[in-house]
Amino acid sequence: MKIETRIVLGTAFFLGLLLIVGWVALNEEGRMAEFTVQYEARSLERGATIWESNCSACHGAFGQGSGRAPALNNPRLFNGERLQEMKWAGGLYAYVENAISAGRPASVAYWPEAMPTWGQQYGGPLRTDQIRDVTRFVLNWEASALDEQNPPEVVQDFILPGVREEGDLQIMASGQPVGTGLATLELPVGDPVRGERLYNSNELGCSSCHMGGVIAPPTEGTVTRAEQRIATVAALANYTVEQYLIESILVPNAYLVPNEGSKVYATGGISIMQQNYSDRIDAQDLADLVAYLLTQG
Ligand code: HEC
Ligand code: HEC
Repeated sequence: MKIETRIVLGTAFFLGLLLIVGWVALNEEGRMAEFTVQYEARSLERGATIWESNCSACHGAFGQGSGRAPALNNPRLFNGERLQEMKWAGGLYAYVENAISAGRPASVAYWPEAMPTWGQQYGGPLRTDQIRDVTRFVLNWEASALDEQNPPEVVQDFILPGVREEGDLQIMASGQPVGTGLATLELPVGDPVRGERLYNSNELGCSSCHMGGVIAPPTEGTVTRAEQRIATVAALANYTVEQYLIESILVPNAYLVPNEGSKVYATGGISIMQQNYSDRIDAQDLADLVAYLLTQG
């Protein structure tokens, strides 16, 4: 081949390459957009699967709510009303993500079971990316929730936090970080003898689980274990033994004693211990139960 021909061919090849590179670069934005759409579609799909297996039993298959939990496919979530009544200053995404990750341990005061804790950073079962997927899935209801022509069916609306029945222990308001109410709690003087009676009563049934430690941590040594937990678990660092006991009784899911051997104390972030003692006992009962447990060193 003549040298000139080679130069011409080489130049043509080079120009061709430039054209291709330029075309690819120009289309980068379009492909990125398409990629994002695909990525989001897959995230929603995964979110739907998580919803189906973890959330629909309480919140309903279509987010319509049930006797166990409020509707999330609900105009009030998307039109700002809910954020306002919850005094949430941030955005909707952060609100929903936070509720899912942290759960609402205190919501047992009015619901049959509390909204479980889902985020792994709070001891729940879902990874950060799974929380993101299911958060997006919930937020994807916006269009249907705000569709005035075809409003969604809301079987159960949100409740106003902090509304409790008279006589309930006003310890922790919904949405507060667990433990917030404990520091200011003032209990009457406890009577350990009455506390022991309550503990063994059929009405409360504490000992039916705790005696002998068959299905729950044993009554004996409760104080010693509480001291160990406070010393070793970061989330409990500022607790007194009394506060730990109070929280264990009123909000069992706040801190879960790890399963021991074949004994399963909790599944999916929910303790097998009853979650409604805050409705069933008053401040004196609580003080007496704690006074009794404090004798169990
Ligand atoms: C055991 C029943 C139960 C399950 C399972 C459950 N939730 Fe909930 N959830 C609740 C209850 C009860 C509330 C209301 C809490 C309150 O009023 O403080 C709630 C509240 C919420 C809220 C906050 C709504 C608001 O503004 O008060 C979101 C968001 C939410 N759940 C999402 C989810 C997601 C996502 C899942 C699945 C990963 C899920 N929930 C699984 C019971 C449940
Ligand atoms: C249905 C069984 C059951 C009943 C009834 C029950 N508990 Fe529990 N309790 C558990 C389980 C399981 C745990 C461990 C998991 C956890 O952290 O919630 C626990 C944890 C505790 C702890 C923390 C123990 C530790 O080692 O740190 C205390 C304190 C406690 N319960 C007190 C009570 C009192 C007081 C009552 C009655 C008012 C009661 N429990 C009723 C099952 C039960």
